[in-house]
Amino acid sequence: MRRSPLLALGGVILAGGVSAADLDEGRKLANMCRTCHGIDGYATIPIAPHIGGEPQEYLEAQLMAFKTGQREHEMMTVVTAGLSAEQIADVSAWYSAHEALATLPEGVDPGDAPQACVSCHGADGISQLLDAPNLAGETNIYIDTQLKAFKRGLRDHEIMSEVAAALSDAEMREIADWYAAISLEIVPVAE
Ligand code: HEC
Ligand code: HEC
Repeated sequence: MRRSPLLALGGVILAGGVSAADLDEGRKLANMCRTCHGIDGYATIPIAPHIGGEPQEYLEAQLMAFKTGQREHEMMTVVTAGLSAEQIADVSAWYSAHEALATLPEGVDPGDAPQACVSCHGADGISQLLDAPNLAGETNIYIDTQLKAFKRGLRDHEIMSEVAAALSDAEMREIADWYAAISLEIVPVAE
């Protein structure tokens, strides 16, 4: 039996019933992240994604992917090298304990959202799945870079590699613009 579904389930339970100690630890660890992702997960630099209010499972999986070298980035590879699996769980719990609120630009029809993406990422860029990220309010630079990374094989995922392979550069830009135009607010979840 593969272990990952069990680990994933553990993450969900943790997110539902996080103890104060885990969040305190996570809050402290988030000081290592705030220059780029903010203390609440609202990114401060255009190449970094917003991570506040993302599913715990997604955050943990990406941090482990950076740590093991499955996903590479000069900044995140260094950051995660120094974190234990427990610290990764704690800091993911911290960022996940926020809520991401998305608002479409005024007058924009949600029916015009990129149809190939909405079943998983939502028309407003809020993820419909535990293992998929929000796209709301990410910069078009970040979204475009990630789509190209999937297409070129620098980042690998059974669904997204296929999705990105089918997109032209112009389509990528257009879709990135849709999600980048959404305004995002990140608020702490009341305890
Ligand atoms: C020096 C800036 C910097 C610091 C510090 C930093 N990050 Fe990042 N982070 C980035 C950048 C840039 C990316 C985008 C990487 C890419 O393009 O693949 C990223 C990506 C991520 C992702 C992937 C999100 C997604 O949507 O796929 C997660 C999760 C993450 N960072 C969490 C953290 C955590 C937690 C910390 C602190 C322990 C941290 N980062 C510290 C710059 C930083
Ligand atoms: C069937 C579900 C599904 C569909 C459809 C889908 N995605 Fe994804 N997407 C995912 C999952 C799951 C991930 C996380 C991949 C990983 O773990 O690396 C993801 C990741 C991404 C990322 C990386 C974001 C980040 O924060 O790093 C981008 C960008 C993205 N998707 C864009 C799109 C676009 C644009 C479309 C439509 C053309 C689309 N996706 C369609 C499931 C989907």
